[in-house]
Amino acid sequence: MNDILTVGLVGVGRLGSAVGQLVAEAGHRLLVADRPGSRVFRSVVETLLPAADAVPLADVVERADVVILALPQPALADLDLARARGVLLDATNAWEHTDGPDSIHRMDPLAWTERVPGVPVVKSLNHAGYGELLMDARPAGAPGRRAFAVAGDDGAAVDLVASLVDSMGFDAVPTSAADAPLLEPDGAVFGRRFDEAGLREALPHAAARVG
Ligand SMILES: NC(=O)c1ccc[n+]([C@@H]2O[C@H](COP(=O)([O-])OP(=O)(O)OC[C@H]3O[C@@H](n4cnc5c(N)ncnc54)[C@H](OP(=O)(O)O)[C@@H]3O)[C@@H](O)[C@H]2O)c1
Repeated sequence: MNDILTVGLVGVGRLGSAVGQLVAEAGHRLLVADRPGSRVFRSVVETLLPAADAVPLADVVERADVVILALPQPALADLDLARARGVLLDATNAWEHTDGPDSIHRMDPLAWTERVPGVPVVKSLNHAGYGELLMDARPAGAPGRRAFAVAGDDGAAVDLVASLVDSMGFDAVPTSAADAPLLEPDGAVFGRRFDEAGLREALPHAAARVG
């Protein structure tokens, strides 16, 4: 049984709304960062995330155990995340298709984290399409359950995100931040469906964290 967490969500587009639904279905408290001036924010929250509380970004950052970043990657540079109490779960990609030609961190997807010294950042949930997330979520122990990588170098943060990912319906494969580029477009893991054993084989640094 996973602990009930307070989960923050920044971005309620295609990925964010799917992830938010899975977080809410898992029974976690869901805070979404308000998006003043957006024409679609309110209707997305009311229709797809009715259990969520919409609060200012600063509240999300200060209250959440895990803050899920589900907005275009270039927008990360402008977010004030330095006061985060918990873990930042970066689900973004440097992908021209969703993030525009200015997506800049293709070589090092965690380069932006230099802006948040001392805040643990974990990369996960970014290597499958949002529709697949909704379709493939299964209870723990289901045969062939889909697996997601949880890449980071802070062991406690990785373990917390792994338990969140498990509660959302997926096996979690902890690995080092060195494997984060493999999760991005053009990486060996992006867009491919793996179970836990297959994903461990595809991630060179996963074995070091087994057990
Ligand atoms: N789509 C997928 O299947 C998928 C799968 C895995 C990973 N990803 C990654 O997830 C990220 C988001 O992709 P998406 O497809 O969900 O994009 P999307 O549908 O365009 O949604 C982006 C969301 O971010 C919000 N947003 C934009 N700029 C913001 C800012 N400065 N501050 C706060 N919120 C902001 C948008 O709000 P407004 O609508 O109000 O502007 C919208 O809710 C990308 O990095 C993408 O590569 C996507």
